Amino acid sequence: MKVITSVKDMQAEIIQQKILGKSIGFVPTMGFLHEGHLTLIKNARKENDLVVLSIFVNPLQFGPKEDFSTYPRDFERDRALAESEQVDYLFYPAVDEMYPNVPSIKVTVQERTDVLCGKSRPGHFDGVATVVTKLFNIVMPTRAYFGKKDAQQVAVIEGLVSDLNFPIQLVAVDIVREKDGLAKSSRNVNLSSEDRKQAPVLYKSLCAAKKAIENGERDSVKLTSLIQEMIIAQTSGEIDYVEIFSYPQLQPIEKIEGRFIIALAVKFKNVRLIDNLIMDI
Ligand code: PAF
Repeated sequence: MKVITSVKDMQAEIIQQKILGKSIGFVPTMGFLHEGHLTLIKNARKENDLVVLSIFVNPLQFGPKEDFSTYPRDFERDRALAESEQVDYLFYPAVDEMYPNVPSIKVTVQERTDVLCGKSRPGHFDGVATVVTKLFNIVMPTRAYFGKKDAQQVAVIEGLVSDLNFPIQLVAVDIVREKDGLAKSSRNVNLSSEDRKQAPVLYKSLCAAKKAIENGERDSVKLTSLIQEMIIAQTSGEIDYVEIFSYPQLQPIEKIEGRFIIALAVKFKNVRLIDNLIMDI
């Protein structure tokens, strides 16, 4: 595995590989790899000649009061994991390498951002879309892999790829969970032991809503109330949102039908967890 820190070197390698006709699977991450990331890498490994993993904690997508400085980082551990998953190139640029000057251009996302995480994180998806655009231009992948846990991010990137005509296939991969149902996340390590015990209630509440839907419930308000009540009764977490939208358009729906997402975000002290369920009926 080659570790590359310079944008120019990364582009030069990829151009060489493309001349040789190799397909490139790309997994963009902010590091502190967990099983969710490893699943994305495994999918990329199966479907492409070469795999590029990027590790870059992108300051542009963190708000002023968010956890950019405390976001967990462990490069040596990540490097070993990437190597064991047979990653070919690990792209690991410094902030100055990605943003050498105050940016004169940024990508602004027009739709699908004023709800869910976008609502409470103004500018977050502009930061994501900007860095992903740069990474796509640096890595020039054939396929790019994203986890469905960040379902709003997947919806936004779908728009980016289609509206800006990137010749890239987007692959959305299912959520990977702990044995107790908690969605894997780099932030889980920051939960206190008591909060870690309570956190699986988030997924349990989504499963309860799914069961209600299977039993015929179609009213969005009743379904979100059911989830909220479970979270309030069984955790000390502070609910940021529990919402139901059409997917991937992210439009509000009173009566659920077709493809939709039930999404939630709950804050346990300084750790904000998200989870979702995408269903078709
Ligand atoms: O999902 C993430 O880890 C980040 O938002 C991404 C896509 C790597 C962009 O910084």
